[in-house]
Amino acid sequence: MPSQDVISAAEELRNGGVVAFPTETVYGLGADVTNHAAVLRVFALKGRPAHNPLIVHVADESMATTVAGHWPEAAKALARSFWPGPLSIVVEKAELIPPVVTAGGSTVCVRCPLHPTALALIEESARPLVGPSANPSGGVSPTTAAHVRSAFPDLTVLDGGPCQIGIESTVVRFTDDGIEILRPGAICAENIEQATGLKATLFSHKGLERTLQSPGLLSKHYAPTTRTRIVFGDELLTVDLNRAVVLTQFDDPDIPHKIVMPTDAHGYAARLYDALRSADELQVDEIIIVAPTGDGPPGVWLAIADRISRASATDENGEP
Ligand code: TXA
Ligand code: MG
Repeated sequence: MPSQDVISAAEELRNGGVVAFPTETVYGLGADVTNHAAVLRVFALKGRPAHNPLIVHVADESMATTVAGHWPEAAKALARSFWPGPLSIVVEKAELIPPVVTAGGSTVCVRCPLHPTALALIEESARPLVGPSANPSGGVSPTTAAHVRSAFPDLTVLDGGPCQIGIESTVVRFTDDGIEILRPGAICAENIEQATGLKATLFSHKGLERTLQSPGLLSKHYAPTTRTRIVFGDELLTVDLNRAVVLTQFDDPDIPHKIVMPTDAHGYAARLYDALRSADELQVDEIIIVAPTGDGPPGVWLAIADRISRASATDENGEP
C-alpha cells in the first residue's frame, strides 16, 4: 500500500495539480503528461522556455511503450539493463503526448526512476508524469525536499530524503550508427555500449574540453547566483581566499571558507548541488571549485565536469 502522502499527491495530480517528488537523481516537478494546463503550469513555475522539452516519467517499460510511437530494440536493451534508474531515452513520441511536453518536437524523452516514492506516485496516479528538475530554470537542481520548498513554498512536496545520485539522469538518443549521449550522467558510455553492443558517443565534447581548459563559454545552467569559477592546482594561490568559498577535496587549513568534498565520484556527485547551494548562501564574492579528481568511474567524473562547467558558465541560454 502506498503511504497516505502518496495517495493524496496522486489525487492532486489526477485533478490537474503539480506535485514535487523525489527521484534518485534530483527532485522533479510532477504533472499529468496529458493535462495541457498542468504542463503549462510546470513551465510557468520554472520559468522554463517553451522550446525546452520535458522528460516523461513512467513506472515501467510497458508504460514507456504507451508514450513512445516506436520502441526500438536498443531501447529495450537499455530499459532492461538500467531501469528503473538514472537513464532517459529519447524516442519517437506517441499521439497521446501533447506537443507542449515535447516543445513541438516529434520525439519524447522517457525515464523510469528508481526511487520508490517516485514509482509509487506514478503507479498511484496511473499515468505518466512530466518531471523536470524542481528548480527555477537555470538554477541548481534540488537534491532535498528543503531545496524544493525554498523555491516553491506553496507546492506539495513528497519528502524522500536526500537524492542518492545527486546529478540529473543521463539522456541518450539513437542515431543511424549508434547512440548519442545528450547529457552525461551516472550511467556512462561504457555501460551503454555493454548493454546494447552499440557505440555510444558524447553529443558535444566542446563543453567538457572547455571545462578542462577555459571554462566560462558554456550556456549557464545548474548555476548558483554567486559568481562561480573552476581553478586548477596552483591557480588557487591567485584567489582572494577571504572573499571566496572554496569547494575542495582537501581539508586545507589555509583556506578559511571551504566545503570539503568527497574524493570518490559517486560521493562527489551526490554532494555537489547541496554544496553549491550552501556556498551560495554564504554570500561571498565568488565560489571557487577546485577541479576535482579521484576514485570511481571516469564517466561519472565526466558528468561532474559537465555540471561544474555549466555552474561556472557566463552566458545565459537557459536549460540545455
Ligand atoms: O534526472 C532527471 O532526469 C531529472 C529527474 C527529476 O528525473 N529530471 C530532469 O529534467 O533533469 P529536466 O527537465 O530538468 O531536464 C530534461 C533534459 C533537458 O536537458 C532537455 O532538453 C532534455 O532532457 N530533453 C527532454 N526531452 C527531450 C527530447 N525530446 N529530445 C532531446 N532532449 C530532450
Ligand atoms: Mg533541470
